Amino acid sequence: MLILGIESSCDETAASVVENCTILKSSVIASQAMEHQLYGGVVPELASRRHCENILAVTQQALEQANITIQDLDGIAVTYTPGLVGALLVGVNFAKGLAFAAGKSLIPVHHIMGHIAANYLAHPELKPPYLCLVVSGGHTMLIEVQNYTKFRILGTTRDDAAGECFDKCARVLGYPYPGGVQIDRASQKGDSTKYKLPRPKVAGSVLDCSFSGLKTAVINTVHHAQQLGEVIDAPSMAASLQRTVAEILTEKTEIAAEMTGYTTIAMAGGVSANSGLRDSMQEMCRSHGYTLYVPPLSLCGDNAAMIACQGSYNYLAGITADESLNAYASGTPIGEMKIS
Ligand code: KG4
Ligand code: ZN
Repeated sequence: MLILGIESSCDETAASVVENCTILKSSVIASQAMEHQLYGGVVPELASRRHCENILAVTQQALEQANITIQDLDGIAVTYTPGLVGALLVGVNFAKGLAFAAGKSLIPVHHIMGHIAANYLAHPELKPPYLCLVVSGGHTMLIEVQNYTKFRILGTTRDDAAGECFDKCARVLGYPYPGGVQIDRASQKGDSTKYKLPRPKVAGSVLDCSFSGLKTAVINTVHHAQQLGEVIDAPSMAASLQRTVAEILTEKTEIAAEMTGYTTIAMAGGVSANSGLRDSMQEMCRSHGYTLYVPPLSLCGDNAAMIACQGSYNYLAGITADESLNAYASGTPIGEMKIS
């Protein structure tokens, strides 16, 4: 079974071919990050335009690298939610046209499910059910992966995602977009105990979290220092922030594992590339004897291999769409397919 995956939810135009769910045949990514860096963040209109320009060549390259033609495919999987709606529409309409013209199945993929599936490409031995910490630029969730296409959200952020917190704090510290990786790099040179940062508590659910108060605390500390004419120790602030975020997420995951009894834990999403978070999760899992699965760095950020992989499982489960498939910026909970 050969599935082509297409991803265009944010600022990466990507296409990939995956065989039998987990064998990666090709993965092509055209990143726009350098262009958006000029503006300190993703400019949605610009992202849509670049996707339009790049999507055909990226897809052609993915097919060429896999040494196949469109006719060899069983289906075409595409991210249809969540993300920037203009950006998503480019991928969805391209995939629809391609599937219709070639007479192939069109497979809708939820971007977050795709992030989780990145683990199967690197670790085919990982099988549901298990617990997954999803941490990206727009989402922070603890998810029970019940099977390859069925998910249950156990906890989520009440406000900002962890990636959003990293990105906004990086900006105020003077690091360029995308800030998360800069925070990670700067942390290596900083003292993580120098700044005492708050750990926001959330009423109601022990597995929910909150990052907006932490973000505000960093921004206020930096602004306060600037007003006093003091120089902030940026690497130490980055290290203090990284440590605090890693401890919060690791603690929530530890509680979720205790509550559910899962001993297999995975991480997914762009922030799962964070070295401080990987270390603290590894340490927590080691101390309990849990098995931790983490995607390789190349599959943590947005890519189409994860979409092709999850698309393969969706296809096997009969989750396909017709030409009425639409793109949705948000509002489609993971596990609930809204395809028209
Ligand atoms: O999953 P992703 O590529 O896109 C979304 O679906 O949102 O995640 C992007 C997020 C950004 O906030 C980026 O700053 C963050 O992942 N990120 C990191 C690291 N690498 C990427 N955050 C912390 N440490 C990193 N090494
Ligand atoms: Zn993503």
